[in-house]
Amino acid sequence: MSPEALRRVRESYASFAPRMPELTAAFYRRLFARRPDLRPLFRDDLTLQERHLAASLELIALNLAMLDALEEPLRQLGADHARAGVRAADYPPVVETLLEVIGEALAGVPASSDASRAESAADWRRLLEAVGRHMLAGATRVEPDRPAARP
Ligand code: HEM
Repeated sequence: MSPEALRRVRESYASFAPRMPELTAAFYRRLFARRPDLRPLFRDDLTLQERHLAASLELIALNLAMLDALEEPLRQLGADHARAGVRAADYPPVVETLLEVIGEALAGVPASSDASRAESAADWRRLLEAVGRHMLAGATRVEPDRPAARP
């Protein structure tokens, strides 16, 4: 990513980070409405679940300057997800729901133009898709015949 794109992602993250609890609630509400089968993968306690969105976005926004250096840790994270029963087909709904919530968060940032919001949204898409690719590359390391955590 270009230095400008890195700056835009970091700035947009800082602009919506204070609203993380409501964004998190919106993310899970939508994800589980769309994919109720994913609900059992997450812990029952909703407050612990919040860690997922916050941890993911923080991981990405704060470390993206070294996305290359993150390749191996992201592969590891992908392998851990696969061991927990997350499948490749689960990534698109999670990534799309995240992008939707991020898009709406950007829309709520005062003093930003439509053009800069569209640019930030495109940056986030590129970034999350790259993260997903690295994670899925790691997921293939997990024994393919290992049973998933859910049927
Ligand atoms: C978009 C790429 C994703 C990123 C960057 C990501 C990132 C993370 C991170 C940082 C954690 C926390 C690990 C920890 O607490 O030590 C986590 C946990 C988890 N992730 Fe993901 N994840 C992604 C995609 C997915 C997908 C597609 C699923 C499938 C539903 C998923 C399900 C989970 C679950 C179930 C946990 C454990 C949450 C809990 O403790 O209840 N993740 N993820």
